[in-house]
Amino acid sequence: MLTNLSFILTSDQMKLLQNLGILISGRGSNMEAILKAIKKQKIPINPTIVISNKPNARGLKIAQRLGVKTLVIESKNYKGKRVQYDKKIISALEQNGVTAKNGFICLAGFMRIISPYFIRKYKNRILNIHPALLPAYPGLDAQKQAIQNGAKVSGCTVHFVDEGIDSGPIILQAVVEVKNNDTEKTLSKRILEKEHVIYPEAISVIARKKIRLSGRRVRMLN
Ligand code: GAR
Repeated sequence: MLTNLSFILTSDQMKLLQNLGILISGRGSNMEAILKAIKKQKIPINPTIVISNKPNARGLKIAQRLGVKTLVIESKNYKGKRVQYDKKIISALEQNGVTAKNGFICLAGFMRIISPYFIRKYKNRILNIHPALLPAYPGLDAQKQAIQNGAKVSGCTVHFVDEGIDSGPIILQAVVEVKNNDTEKTLSKRILEKEHVIYPEAISVIARKKIRLSGRRVRMLN
């Protein structure tokens, strides 16, 4: 799938682009923000496949509308068989050009823990967005945790995925004020708006090779 980049790049230039696979489970609003940024030529990357572990994920229709191939690989029959499931995902990614050498993977509301097998295979090539200022509030219900803890600020984080929960090197963060009258819903909404900005931005700097990773620190290059 070439999206509209194929209209402006020669086939040789297209071959040099890295391929992107996006994994979703539901709404897909981050996926939509990423695909729209690619269409506007803000990210030099080739989105070849969107995979959902849920057949009714709303994001599937959005991806199709934006001209990106979609696939459903249901996870419900893989309880306790994490590696077996991940091998199916890896095989689909590879078939669509998202390889460990020439691909990046974005988790965009993909509500499954991925196996160390998967993470090691795509070392520093898997990104995630989390609705909190990590390392605060990892895991589920991050916005609720921020409110319950009386945090004055929260936000969102794009990070590389490592073998912990929401614990990989941080690429970009955006801060959101927690207001006195915020509910989980109102705070989530304002955080989501920032997610839609920093996730495409993070992929853009990676696709342009404008970052260096040393240990846990990610440095932006000019
Ligand atoms: C987003 O808020 C994302 O940060 C969160 O799920 C939502 C998915 O929305 N992810 C996590 O909590 C992962 N730990 P989307 O499907 O509309 O992009």
